[in-house]
Amino acid sequence: MAKKAVLCITGASGSIYGYRLLEVLDGMGFNLDLIVSTAGAVVLKEELGLSLKDIQQRFPRVRLVSEKAIADSVASGSRLINYTGVLVAPCSMSTLACVANGINQNLIHRVCETALKERVPLVLIVREAPYSLIHLENMLKVARAGATILPASPAFYHKPKSVEEIVDFIVGKALDNLRIEHNLYKRWKSQD
Ligand SMILES: Cc1cc2nc3c(=O)[nH]c(=O)nc-3n(C[C@H](O)[C@H](O)[C@H](O)COP(=O)(O)O)c2cc1C
Repeated sequence: MAKKAVLCITGASGSIYGYRLLEVLDGMGFNLDLIVSTAGAVVLKEELGLSLKDIQQRFPRVRLVSEKAIADSVASGSRLINYTGVLVAPCSMSTLACVANGINQNLIHRVCETALKERVPLVLIVREAPYSLIHLENMLKVARAGATILPASPAFYHKPKSVEEIVDFIVGKALDNLRIEHNLYKRWKSQD
């Protein structure tokens, strides 16, 4: 299968997860389609000080697609079927709710819906604290439909020494889920 993936960045806190996935997957030679929601762009600017123009300049190979481009190729199952997977990092509770309930208000929701119906791996790096019953029910719905819910809740048994190492644990987990080999975090080694 060609090294192709869709990466979506939505308006939850944690744009750094999406940014790091961009760095890692682009570095691995993946052809990336990047969709950033309107709120995602606001949080990206707030948290990392980066505009979409900055992102395109830093990653010229990445295909930046508007969330409004509802007729884009990745909206179609006949195209998405050839992708390794779809990642939403970070995934807001609003985007989660749309995906869980089959509501397509932008291209991100549609790509997620298409991934679920075509059984293309879908990983949602969700972030909110605490979760309401509605959030939990929506997570259950999408998990039952085949998505992977990957909470942005890193482990600490690998004794991270920086924010980067904490972020890489979650990014590594997302790649594990897509069966993409990497060395982003130290795997658990039993003492016995
Ligand atoms: C600085 C900032 C941080 C936010 N953090 C979160 C968050 O962690 N989780 C969440 O679900 N929404 C968060 N929001 C709210 C979402 O951005 C908002 O619900 C938005 O409508 C989501 O739209 P989207 O899913 O299309 O990106 C945050 C908003 C701002 C401005």
